Amino acid sequence: MKAQSLKSFKQKFSYSGHILSGPYSGLLQKRLIRAMIHLDALEQFGSPVIPYIAAWRPDDNYIWYEYCGKRFHDLLGQPTTELANTFRDHIVSRYLYRYQGNPPTITKITRDKEQLDRMRPGLRRMVMRGGEADAVYKVAINGSPLWLKDLAKVEVFAEDNIVLSWGSLIDVSSEMRLEEALVETQQELNIHKEHLELLVDKRTRELHKSQLEVVSRLTQALACRHDESGLHGQRLRAYSSILGSALGLKKGVQWLLSQAVPMHDVGKVGISDAILLKEGALSPPEFDIIKTHCQMGADLLQGGNSQLLQVARVVALTHHERWDGSGYPHGLEKHRIPLAGRITALCDVFDALTSPRCYKSTWSFEDATDEIDSMRNIHFDPKLVDLFMVNLPKIRRVIAQTNLATEQAV
Ligand SMILES: [Fe+2]
Ligand SMILES: [Fe+2]
Repeated sequence: MKAQSLKSFKQKFSYSGHILSGPYSGLLQKRLIRAMIHLDALEQFGSPVIPYIAAWRPDDNYIWYEYCGKRFHDLLGQPTTELANTFRDHIVSRYLYRYQGNPPTITKITRDKEQLDRMRPGLRRMVMRGGEADAVYKVAINGSPLWLKDLAKVEVFAEDNIVLSWGSLIDVSSEMRLEEALVETQQELNIHKEHLELLVDKRTRELHKSQLEVVSRLTQALACRHDESGLHGQRLRAYSSILGSALGLKKGVQWLLSQAVPMHDVGKVGISDAILLKEGALSPPEFDIIKTHCQMGADLLQGGNSQLLQVARVVALTHHERWDGSGYPHGLEKHRIPLAGRITALCDVFDALTSPRCYKSTWSFEDATDEIDSMRNIHFDPKLVDLFMVNLPKIRRVIAQTNLATEQAV
């Protein structure tokens, strides 16, 4: 292009770049002029894309625009010479959308201005290698945010030591405003959800605690009648934990079991002292009355909505069932007896044998364990007897600890 026509071309485009005014190759200058004419025509036709041509040297951080669409000026309200710096200085953040996985999901990678400033030399090298860049920039000028989607193809002119970025911007502010509003709404919903979960959790704990307290007081009231020390319940808790752990039950289930087992005789609150505390053997009618304590306990614990009360109900109802089906109240046999009932039966009988009662003397540890062993397949689940025998050292420690506690209390 002749000097005169180049001058009028630059005037027409209000050109403020460097390439058409400096010692650059004819190839580069011609490419640039053709591209500017083409992009200007696109703008005249009202294309929604805002074109720009940015330039930089591979060994320099400085960047400038050779061409900017008119709408870019209007959007940022700056002359071409200032546009590159204004754009860079007012970037709030940059979003990169990646499609990953199968089925694909969109991952949004956000970088703030400080991160971008640090990453810029690396990003430049990356786009030079890859040949293109694609991201959404959030720009805030005069306080009002603007989102511009930038898609740029990068071309290196080695002879001139120049890199040109052929870019297209699309104003995606309304879409991104919607996305931000959605994110904010989601965050607010999450906060509400967390708050509600905490509230429900708190209420559930309170309810659980009050139900536990009622039943524990009932059990204590009963213990006052025939287990003055309260150690029977304490030992049952420990024995059932040992068996629960040996069975590989989850910690939460072990806890439920250990809390429920001491409530097995809660139904005895309905049995008169004359029968309950009677010294010597019970007559058959008296024994029939005693037998009702299982159903009475189950009725008492019926309808509790905590897991603990539900397990306690099963324990109260089934702790006198026997493996061979000769127990009461329903004559269940083998695995028809719930595990909690089978565990309670074994622990309860063992503790009764090794503790003094009004109707019998205390059995030695060895005699009591022989008795338990001899009742496998008759009274007790054989697998539980096996686990009980394997854990005798732990059982012995429980007895030693409660004896020590009694001596100290005395
Ligand atoms: Fe009982
Ligand atoms: Fe008992």
